[in-house]
Amino acid sequence: MTNPMPRDSRTPLLVRALLFAAVSITCSGAALAQDTQRGRLLYENTCTGCHSRSVFARKDRIASNYDEIRRQVERWRAQTGAPWTASEIEDVTAWLNQAAYRFKPPPG
Ligand code: HEC
Repeated sequence: MTNPMPRDSRTPLLVRALLFAAVSITCSGAALAQDTQRGRLLYENTCTGCHSRSVFARKDRIASNYDEIRRQVERWRAQTGAPWTASEIEDVTAWLNQAAYRFKPPPG
């Protein structure tokens, strides 16, 4: 449950700058259905206080398919009060799936 990359909690500005850069790059490129890099930044900015990615690899993990990852992301988004849009929730879901769960993503 330890964070492998502890961050200075006084640097949200930097994180915001990175987010802004990522979003800018995304918006200028082709419109992708899911942007895992944006998902990664959102996740690392909001969610790594309590758990590293090992929570997604434990034997008795909750999510057993892609839809359940999304449900857990929404659950924790609500818990943390992060003001994520539906598309940002999709991005975080896609990132966690790519980085940890590796379920077959839904078509489209
Ligand atoms: C207050 C601490 C805390 C924060 C902040 C937190 N989590 Fe969690 N998370 C947990 C704990 C503890 C568990 C495992 C137990 C449970 O699910 O109730 C968990 C489980 C999960 C799971 C399910 C893992 C499985 O078993 O498949 C997902 C997905 C998840 N968190 C995503 C997130 C996301 C996304 C955020 C940021 C929006 C976040 N968490 C922020 C504590 C936290």
